[in-house]
Amino acid sequence: MQPFDLIPSSIQKVLIKLEERDREEREVDLGRFQRLRQIPRETGEFLFQFLITFIPQFSDFVGLEVGTSGGYSTLWQGMALVLSHQGRLISLDHDPKKYLLASENITSTEVGKYVTLIHEDAKNYLKRKSQDRFSYIFMDCEKEDYAYFFNFLVARLTRGSVLIADNVISHADDMPDFIEQIKSNSRVSSIILPIGSGLAFIRWL
Ligand SMILES: C[S@@+](CC[C@H](N)C(=O)[O-])C[C@H]1O[C@@H](n2cnc3c(N)ncnc32)[C@H](O)[C@@H]1O
Repeated sequence: MQPFDLIPSSIQKVLIKLEERDREEREVDLGRFQRLRQIPRETGEFLFQFLITFIPQFSDFVGLEVGTSGGYSTLWQGMALVLSHQGRLISLDHDPKKYLLASENITSTEVGKYVTLIHEDAKNYLKRKSQDRFSYIFMDCEKEDYAYFFNFLVARLTRGSVLIADNVISHADDMPDFIEQIKSNSRVSSIILPIGSGLAFIRWL
């Protein structure tokens, strides 16, 4: 059985609709900031499988996603919360059109009970919420900003927290500082997984 088979058919339909839209946008070469630029299904399945096993370690799981787009990755992660019957995922996007699209795709579904969508720049949000702590972060925003977010978060996450960053193989050239930071920082242990566009899996020690 594939992880996709564990997803209720109402959510499967939304995932398939978003996959088709993402494919069409790539084919017509729509501009970078207009496109959904969502993770491939393989990455969604990995995040879902990982979170299903990770979430039960926490009594008050709080996850953060930086880069909601149309909500494709949010639905995969949110489904892990639904099946775990606990936790909360906060997902941020600064683009008003993407925020609205994600709201349409998520708030009316069962995933909406576990996910809070926020329309705000993640840099502002994290500065404003300096007391908040996260068990898990999925980073999928502009690749040039990864080093900034890692620097900002490294002292704020606690032992056992996990940060997963997408595109570290496909866009390695856009993030040399980030790759160097995660390899050399003694507060974290990191590995690069050849899943989808390449995932950095970073664990706080
Ligand atoms: C690669 S797409 C995210 C795709 C999404 N994770 C998915 O798989 O469905 C990147 C998104 O990050 C958003 N973004 C980029 N920089 C951001 C920032 N500083 N704060 C909030 N959102 C940001 C963009 O508007 C865009 O929608």
